[in-house]
Amino acid sequence: MLKGKKIVVGITGSIAAYKIPFLVRLLIKAGAEVRVIMTPMATEFVTPLTLATLSQRAVITDPFKENSGEWNNHVELGTWADLMVFAPVTANTLGKMVNGIADNFVITAYLSARCPVFIAPAMDLDMYSHPSTQNNIGILQSYGNYIIEPQVGELASGLSGPGRMEEPENIFNILCDHVAKQGALDKKKVLVTAGPTYENIDPVRFIGNYSTGKMGFSLALEAARRGAEVTLIAGPSTLEATHPKIKRINVISAGEMYDACVQKASHADIVIMAAAVADYTFAGPSATKLKKSQAPVSLELIPTKDILLELGSTKRKEQILVGFALETDHELENAKQKLKRKNLDYIVLNSLQEPGAGFGHSTNKVTVIDASGAIDSGNLKTKQEVAADILDIIGKHRTL
Ligand code: CTP
Repeated sequence: MLKGKKIVVGITGSIAAYKIPFLVRLLIKAGAEVRVIMTPMATEFVTPLTLATLSQRAVITDPFKENSGEWNNHVELGTWADLMVFAPVTANTLGKMVNGIADNFVITAYLSARCPVFIAPAMDLDMYSHPSTQNNIGILQSYGNYIIEPQVGELASGLSGPGRMEEPENIFNILCDHVAKQGALDKKKVLVTAGPTYENIDPVRFIGNYSTGKMGFSLALEAARRGAEVTLIAGPSTLEATHPKIKRINVISAGEMYDACVQKASHADIVIMAAAVADYTFAGPSATKLKKSQAPVSLELIPTKDILLELGSTKRKEQILVGFALETDHELENAKQKLKRKNLDYIVLNSLQEPGAGFGHSTNKVTVIDASGAIDSGNLKTKQEVAADILDIIGKHRTL
């Protein structure tokens, strides 16, 4: 899988650095070309000589070549690489990556990357669970980097908990998996909806819901990474979609989302409706701000158009239509009925009962049901991983 792939391995100053020679050995054995770069601190944990011997190339540890007046070219490295994997990554380096503090060669190479970037954090459990670290990991993920989550286990401090770098064999398998999936959706057009819709009461008030758009944005990013041309129709969301293969259309209301979806869906090979669309809107929103009074107020709500129902009724034979269902009771039964009623190929069932799943969380736990009734239940994972699982399932569809 990795034969001929050009891979940069960036090592930073954590004790887990001692495991990276094993990763480099696996990559070389698989036929990859490997260039190792290290922060000065990393060289305290494992020697450049070991890594140069295993990678069959000189290791770069400094932006400048000693006593030569020459510099090591990080820009060239950025254009050379098919993949970059940074492992282990310390809390310090995570912070520098987030803020673009390029005070060593590893960070300059990271900032010059044009290829997919994998980041495997490793640190003690308290450092790992600190809000600064968690925030930095979230930001790096939102920039499109892949985070290789650390494992729970024994740490160098003698404590036990999350923070242990993923084992080299698993990092290697993650890279192989990535390469296997790359291009799986080449030339496919994927339409994804995300986020809530806002229904205006007057110019300053609206009815909305708690959706942040994370699941839909993760699906859009994953589809783009697999080579698809993605149209992301997003309700109000603070999230950013940075991948060049994602075209974002912003909408506010269920009505606007309906218009955008109907216009774009006929060209799509896959439509994924992850948005939490309002089921009701106001009969007549006020053009001016409503004034308060002591009398009770009632507002008349009218149903919105069901976008998915409409797309299901006009669906092309080879088109794949995926809906979401958020249920609080009789979950499977309700989801199956929805799948049938809306003529879907798949429905993704979200449960609000599950701790860590649903609105606003970075993690989710879903069950995917297909039109034949087959059920695929996942574990609690990051929304990015859940997005990959959903696309793995859809990717096996007979029309793709
Ligand atoms: N949906 C839609 N248009 C709407 C409402 C919902 O396209 N006006 C889509 C959502 O994006 C989601 C799916 O329908 O993919 C399920 O939405 P949900 O609100 O859970 O189901 P409903 O069919 O609206 O039924 P109910 O509210 O009774 O559960």
